Amino acid sequence: MTHELRHMLRDDDINHEEQKQILKLGMKFRENRFYARPFEGPQAVAVLFDKPSTRTRSSFSIGVAELGGYPLVIDKSSSQLGRGEPVEDTARVLTRMAYGIVWRTFGQDRVETMAKYANCPVINALTDQFHPCQILADFLTMAQFRGGVDALAGQTIAYLGDAANNMSNSYLLGGAVAGMHVRVAGPEGYLPDPQIVADAKAIAEKTGGSITVTTDPQAAVADADCVFTDTWVSMGEEAEYAIRSKPFWDYQVNPELMKLAKPDALFQHCLPAYRGKEVTASVIDGPQSVVWDEAENRLHAQKALMTWLIAWQREDPSLLGD
Ligand code: CP
Ligand code: NVA
Repeated sequence: MTHELRHMLRDDDINHEEQKQILKLGMKFRENRFYARPFEGPQAVAVLFDKPSTRTRSSFSIGVAELGGYPLVIDKSSSQLGRGEPVEDTARVLTRMAYGIVWRTFGQDRVETMAKYANCPVINALTDQFHPCQILADFLTMAQFRGGVDALAGQTIAYLGDAANNMSNSYLLGGAVAGMHVRVAGPEGYLPDPQIVADAKAIAEKTGGSITVTTDPQAAVADADCVFTDTWVSMGEEAEYAIRSKPFWDYQVNPELMKLAKPDALFQHCLPAYRGKEVTASVIDGPQSVVWDEAENRLHAQKALMTWLIAWQREDPSLLGD
């Protein structure tokens, strides 16, 4: 492990082995909340929000505190960033004080600029394009219910709904990194950017996974090990609510669709969920749903990710355990 500043901006910023290392560390944090305290001091981590959040805010705030650090949470409405201060200048200032920067914002270019000008690890806490922290939590949840991290490669996952959004993109890349068979299904006009599909396919070729993009929801869920969905109207798209309430009905995750997946298939949703829209109450509140473990796993996965990034920065592999 050489001194290297690593960031987590998109799901393929880590390779297959590194993803496994982070998830295994996440399992350790699940078993022992205070497994490692790399921010003991306390050292501050800036956690910035340009969009609303419940899970990300609480899991990063509590997670940094449990790692021995101080979470400095700043909302758009109370920051100069929100009044147009350049990202570059914000990065230059925060990096003089904080040991890490976590940011939920709009364009992916903004977190990339932050990482370029910051001299500390930067974590994408959701952009319009990607939500890599959620994918780590979702895969940790699969590992929890499917015999550990080593069992993830070869699993078939199906994501239904808005296949052009941040969650779909992150399942494509993150699933490819994990060596999974990733299927995403959505209506015409809501399918992923071809460049992201191409990136995911190139990764899957190396990891033994595969990528399928389809408009056929039944084909996507057939014999799947885990079924995922997300809101049809992401943050920032509220003005499109009326337009977006029509094309997705065939992609609603309901008991009929779940029956096509493996009998013991899991159901996950990053939350917040809209019952009666992208998922029925009978599925999300039913026996196959593991959404509350999934939400809890945000805490463990992100503590693992922060510890892993700090291990790189400090050249301290002892932080990673065995
Ligand atoms: N899943 C997720 O990121 O939730 P929040 O928007 O509440 O942070
Ligand atoms: N696609 C959703 C995810 C929320 C966690 C959004 O961006 O609003």
